[in-house]
Amino acid sequence: MAINITEDKRAEIRHRADIVEIISERIVLKKAGKDFVGLCPFHSEKTPSFTVSPGKQIYHCFGCGAGGDVFSFMMKYDGVGFSEAVSEIARRYGIDLPTRSMTPQQKKNISEKQLLFDINHQVMNYYRTQLADRLIGETAREYLQQRGFNRKVIDEFELGFAPEGWDKLIHFIRKSNIPLSIAEKTGLIIPKENKGYYDRFRNRIIFPILDEKRRVIGFGGRVLDDSKPKYLNSPESPIYHKGHSLYGVHASKDRCRETETVFIVEGYFDLISLHQHGFTNSVATLGTALTVEHVRLLKRGFARKAYLVFDSDAAGVKAAHRSIPIFMDESVSAAVVVLPKGYDPDSYLHKMGAKAFQEATDHALGMIDFLIESAVLQYGLTIEGKLRILSEISDPLSRISDSVTRSIYIRHVADRINVEEAAVAEKIRSVVSRIRQVKHHQDNRAQNPPKTESISRSCSSPTTSDDLRLEKQIVSMMLKYPKILPQVEKSGAMNYFQDKDLKNLGQMIFTRTSHDENEFSDLMNQLEDDVLRQLLASLAISDECWDQKSCENLLFQFIQSQKRKRQPLISRIKAAEESNDQELLLQLLKEKQEQAVTR
Ligand code: CTP
Ligand code: MN
Repeated sequence: MAINITEDKRAEIRHRADIVEIISERIVLKKAGKDFVGLCPFHSEKTPSFTVSPGKQIYHCFGCGAGGDVFSFMMKYDGVGFSEAVSEIARRYGIDLPTRSMTPQQKKNISEKQLLFDINHQVMNYYRTQLADRLIGETAREYLQQRGFNRKVIDEFELGFAPEGWDKLIHFIRKSNIPLSIAEKTGLIIPKENKGYYDRFRNRIIFPILDEKRRVIGFGGRVLDDSKPKYLNSPESPIYHKGHSLYGVHASKDRCRETETVFIVEGYFDLISLHQHGFTNSVATLGTALTVEHVRLLKRGFARKAYLVFDSDAAGVKAAHRSIPIFMDESVSAAVVVLPKGYDPDSYLHKMGAKAFQEATDHALGMIDFLIESAVLQYGLTIEGKLRILSEISDPLSRISDSVTRSIYIRHVADRINVEEAAVAEKIRSVVSRIRQVKHHQDNRAQNPPKTESISRSCSSPTTSDDLRLEKQIVSMMLKYPKILPQVEKSGAMNYFQDKDLKNLGQMIFTRTSHDENEFSDLMNQLEDDVLRQLLASLAISDECWDQKSCENLLFQFIQSQKRKRQPLISRIKAAEESNDQELLLQLLKEKQEQAVTR
């Protein structure tokens, strides 16, 4: 990839940016010694192995090996290219970038998304002024008032109004000198069959959808009466993906982090109601079922425990059922708040108040209890009913990875429906082993993907794990104890290196101009390959302390073992016999036998 942002600029951005700050804006980090740790956003885990070092300005996951600097984090997490990551961080810290140095394509990619955010922002303000307009906004304001929403939440959620008519927004867009062909990409205006456009949202209350950075990614619009369709929404666009987005994140993030819990509802008004009643750690899905991306978003940046507050009707119960396996698979604890028949969160809060809602959440059922109770309700406790309950509950039970927890639930189910515990356990066991088989297969595939760059590299060299460990240690030592560099060079250790990546890194270290053991940005800058950046981060973040003696020892040990290996087998066998090293002797004889076979 051509990088047109100058070295100096990159260095400036890197120095001003704080990796802990940038990463904390996206995932929950806790201080641990001089580093910060959190749940890795790049693989599924229950205990944090994702480490961020403020001193070194790098991150590294001890679980999956992901790592790098602030730019590579941004690229990986936000799914953007290098230039976009750099400009995003520059923007975040108010650093001007000379846009001239970007290629037209780079400029286009960055600016198109930014342009769409800008258009959406202007349109949000336009809709707001319409809602505030004495005449135009009157019915809409009355509607909101009659539903019990106060000024504060209306402002906080920047609600607006799209007036009656087919081209009101089009006029505004023209007046603002925004090209209609670009505005079309936001989905706010829709092309007509022959020529021209018309407004998507007409005579509707407007809900702007803001992401956690308060960028306006899309809109929802509700009619003011019972006409259909009740809601219209922005279509998917380069900046809006409803399967990854949650309504209200901008207003709930802080409180979610404080309480480590989040309420999840399904509707715009449900969400606003919760906020108005003080439950500000709440988000809503956007007319889609909850996805694994939603749960990961919450897990990373928001909360450890979710309360699902869906409608009490059949659709709400079904939605809860569908969501539970996702929470289980992502190891996020969830509970289902069951509201009395006929209510949704909004109507319940408005009718019964915050205290009643709090009580309902206090009685929330854990995921498994919810499944049991709704199955009991549906099938009853006849013999037939019990069998159906068991077959419905066995899949979710088998997803509980902790065997103690699982056995507690097995006893619980057995008690609840009055069946022998052993019978329940037997049923679950068969499902568990089936799932294990599938999972094992998947894991194998994940660990040995057909062909990725990093795997094919290490496979191509016959490096043993011992060699690899020593080579890694040497490079790590070179980073952290630069005084040893002349000796490393003199020893020729690098010539023995089998791992090409480590060798490259090592050679780059020799050519460094600065040798600050806490500063790796010059090296990061030279690395364009993500695999190498990860490798560098993992070596730099390790906590070994080096001194002259331990460095020399390592070098000596490495060189000796390499020299030994390069001796002909026969003389090594002799040496082993002489020193009476039975174990080594056995190993060497085995090697010799193998050689004989392959020859
Ligand atoms: N929804 C949608 N399109 C529809 C109906 C619903 O996108 N035609 C989405 C909206 O995000 C809506 C959510 O599903 O907020 C829940 O729908 P529903 O329960 O029908 O509406 P409420 O949010 O309860 O709205 P209201 O209280 O105004 O009826
Ligand atoms: Mn409702």
